[in-house]
Amino acid sequence: LSEVIKEGDDVLLLLDRKKTFLVKANKDKILHTHKGFITLENLLGEKFGTGIRSNLSVEFKALRPTIRDYIFKMNRRTQIIYPKDIALIIVNCNIHSGCHIVEAGTGTGALTAALAFYVQPSGHVFSYETRDDHIETALRNITRANLSEFVDIKNKDISEGIDERELDAVVLDLATPWQIVNHAYVALKGSGMFASFSPTIDQTLKTTIALRETGFVDINTIECLVRRIRVEIGKTRPETLMTGHTGYLTFGRKAN
Ligand SMILES: C[S@@+](CC[C@H](N)C(=O)[O-])C[C@H]1O[C@@H](n2cnc3c(N)ncnc32)[C@H](O)[C@@H]1O
Repeated sequence: LSEVIKEGDDVLLLLDRKKTFLVKANKDKILHTHKGFITLENLLGEKFGTGIRSNLSVEFKALRPTIRDYIFKMNRRTQIIYPKDIALIIVNCNIHSGCHIVEAGTGTGALTAALAFYVQPSGHVFSYETRDDHIETALRNITRANLSEFVDIKNKDISEGIDERELDAVVLDLATPWQIVNHAYVALKGSGMFASFSPTIDQTLKTTIALRETGFVDINTIECLVRRIRVEIGKTRPETLMTGHTGYLTFGRKAN
């Protein structure tokens, strides 16, 4: 990756933690903000990390976008899986470059993009989705994150079966994951990883029972709560408000 910003590069312009803009560094483009406009041509040839000023002399930092930035800038059609839960899926499923993964449903494509980011350049994500409108939005979001070559979105109901075999992982975020457990077992390699994200305990229980009955081992469920800390001299303490619940993550590994 070049240190210097070139024509067509993605740049995250950061005013502060809460206000950022994801732009392409293009010659003829201007970004209008509430703090004045920025001529994006001025980014070309500068190093990532550098400060750039609007016509009102307000400074924005020009950062290289991360997968987290791309996810938070996605046009959302569905509830997404948030980075705190994605991180646990990545580590618990041992997702790395070269992995072949089936995922469903695609939804907005947030998890799809993250999986693609970690399996590239030699791995691949096959993502199943039943709704055409969701496929269209997800494709746009994944393309915006420059990850489309590592993803195939299939317009298919995954409860009818999984076409792929010898998979490293099957990752689910849909209403009835227990109906997919058998298909996942057939499609996975020996020792392959199963992960499912569900908002409710009822779904989690049904999925766990299906995993036990199908021959998965190392079955476990976790929930991740993230508490932000406000850091200021004399006032450093947890934020008053936090997200109380997103979903439960259930994992298993295929054994014979
Ligand atoms: C909550 S969204 C997934 C969000 C996604 N994980 C993300 O991070 O953007 C659930 C999606 O699953 C799709 N879906 C539900 N049942 C399905 C099935 N049996 N096969 C394929 N897709 C399904 C829905 O249409 C919906 O788009």
